Amino acid sequence: MSDTSARRIDPEGTPSPHDVMTLGGQRFVPMISPQDIAVAIDRIAGDLTLRHFRSVPILLGVLSGAAPFHADLARRLEFPLELDYIRVSSYRGGIAPSGEMTIAAHPSTQMAGRNVIVVDDIVDTGGTLRMLVDYVVDRGASLVETAALLYKPGADTRGALPDYVGFHIPDVFVVGYGLDYHGLGRNLPGVMRWEGALEQE
Ligand code: IMP
Ligand code: MG
Repeated sequence: MSDTSARRIDPEGTPSPHDVMTLGGQRFVPMISPQDIAVAIDRIAGDLTLRHFRSVPILLGVLSGAAPFHADLARRLEFPLELDYIRVSSYRGGIAPSGEMTIAAHPSTQMAGRNVIVVDDIVDTGGTLRMLVDYVVDRGASLVETAALLYKPGADTRGALPDYVGFHIPDVFVVGYGLDYHGLGRNLPGVMRWEGALEQE
């Protein structure tokens, strides 16, 4: 596990009104800045480089949420690797978790004998990552590692701790940098946390 230096995020303080973003009638406030995300990705890239610079790994991004993280991470890895993608249909859209998960789009790379790094946006229950590790192992990968930008606290008891973690965050709903609320917010450059429903006038 190389996530020991991942920062723990404790949201506090009252953001100024112009920092508040409204998505689908819900209020979101800044939690992790684009600059802090860049620093975390540099750290993860350094750890991945030490381990994989000679292995020509497959960096497997989990669509759609991990797309920005996957792309930014890939550009910081200055050694030969392949990029691929997988789409999981566990997508819940809202705030509450749901159960069932299937593979909606398969990767095209042959994984037999390869090192595969599964890259996801956030680990909540850990169910998605656990399923993806099994999937990659079933396809014959010789080594599977996992990277997640965000890690929520319940995950260590209910699921697998990723090998590389950007930030440990409290159990709050977040959007931005790939993460969405009903399809919205993925394009935000930083991570914002849910603060409550919009007040009625
Ligand atoms: P898990 O299988 O419970 O670990 O959930 C992982 C997936 O749930 C992530 O890849 C996200 O797509 C989604 N998810 C979990 N927490 C959040 C959140 O706070 N905001 C947006 N999506 C989330
Ligand atoms: Mg996801």
